[in-house]
Amino acid sequence: MDATHTYAFLLLPSHNRVYAQQSARLARAELLVMNDTVLGGRLADIAESTLGGVPYLTFRAPRPTEEDLAHLANLSGLYALFERVGDTLTPVEVRRLDRFPDDLLTIQKYVGKTNEDFTKLLLNVTALSCARPERLLTGRLRVLDPLCGRGTTLNQAVMYGLDAAGVERDGKSFDAYQNFFRQWLRNTRIKHRAESGPVRRNHRTVGRRLTVTLGADKESYRRGETIEVDAVQADTVASGDFFRAASFDLIVTDTPYGVQHGSRARDTAGPALSRSPLPLLTEALPVWNRLLRPGGAIGISWNTQVAAREELTAVLAAQGLVVRDSEPYLGFEHRVDQAIVRDLVVAVKPTGARGV
Ligand SMILES: C[S@@+](CC[C@H](N)C(=O)[O-])C[C@H]1O[C@@H](n2cnc3c(N)ncnc32)[C@H](O)[C@@H]1O
Repeated sequence: MDATHTYAFLLLPSHNRVYAQQSARLARAELLVMNDTVLGGRLADIAESTLGGVPYLTFRAPRPTEEDLAHLANLSGLYALFERVGDTLTPVEVRRLDRFPDDLLTIQKYVGKTNEDFTKLLLNVTALSCARPERLLTGRLRVLDPLCGRGTTLNQAVMYGLDAAGVERDGKSFDAYQNFFRQWLRNTRIKHRAESGPVRRNHRTVGRRLTVTLGADKESYRRGETIEVDAVQADTVASGDFFRAASFDLIVTDTPYGVQHGSRARDTAGPALSRSPLPLLTEALPVWNRLLRPGGAIGISWNTQVAAREELTAVLAAQGLVVRDSEPYLGFEHRVDQAIVRDLVVAVKPTGARGV
C-alpha cells in the first residue's frame, strides 16, 4: 500500500464574514462526505488547523489518484491544496471542473440570494450522495432547483457543465434570472441559442419558460456537446406539468427562510419571521419525487429557526426517500444572520424505486 502523506487544504477566502468564520467546519463536513462516498475512506485525521495564522484543513492520505484530485478540486471551500512535509508546503495541482468565467456566479447581488459558496456545497453534497457521483466529473447529471429564485443553483450546475432546470413562482425573480443569464451569455460570447415565452395548455397560459442550449466552447457546440438550461415561471407544485417523470438525477434547493426581507414587524426593527417551509414541502415533495430518477438524490437547505430537522426528515421519509444521517451529514448547521440558522438535509431515492 502507498505510504501515507499529509496534505493541507487552504480555504477559500469568503467575502461573507459570518460564512467565513464557519467555513472551516463546513469544509470539513463536505470533505468527510466526499471521503465516505468517492474517496473510499482513504483520508484520515481530517482536521481544522492553523498554519502561519491562516485556517486550513489538514488530512493524511495515500497519494491521491487523478480521479481523487478531480473530485477534491471541486470542494466548495478549496482555494489551494498542498502536500505538507515538516514545515514545507508543496502545491498540488488541482483542476476545477469550471467551464466558464466565475462572474457567472459572482456578478449578481440581491437580497435573498443564496451564498454561492454554500450553493456549491449543497450541490456537491447532494451529487456525492447519489448512486452515480462520479458522473459529476463527466457532466452527466441533470439538476433541478424547484425553488430557483434568480438561479444561483442553475448557474453553479452550468459552471460544472450539467444540464439544469428551475422553477420559480415569482415573476420578478424569473425575469431577473432570464435577463441576467441572456446578457451574460452575450457579454461572454458563449455560443448558444435561447427561446422564451408563455407556455399554453388548453388555450390557457400556465407559465413562462426559458430554454437555452449552450456550448462550453464553439467546437463542443458544433459537435452537439451542449448544456441545456430550462427555467419555468410557475408554482413548484405544478413542476410535473413541465418536466418528465424520472428525468432528474439531483434536486437541489434552498427553501424560503420564513423571513420577510426588507419588511418590519410592528414592534421590532429586525426581520419578521413568518412561516415554516413544511407545508410547501409536504405539498411539493411528492411532485419533486416523481421527477427524480431512482438512485437520484435530493438536497434541501432550510432555516432551523422555523422548522426542526426531524420534521423535514419525516416529510422526506414519507415519500420513501432514504435520509442520509451519518455523522458528516449532521455537521452543516451554520448561522446566516440573526434570524437564520441554516442547515441541509440529503435524501436518496432507492434504486429499486419506481421511476414514476
Ligand atoms: C430561498 S429562495 C431561493 C433563492 C435562490 N437560491 C437564489 O439564490 O436566487 C426561495 C425561493 O422560493 C420561491 N418560492 C416560494 N414558494 C414557491 C412556490 N410555491 N413555487 C415556486 N417558487 C416558490 C421564492 O419566490 C424564492 O425565490
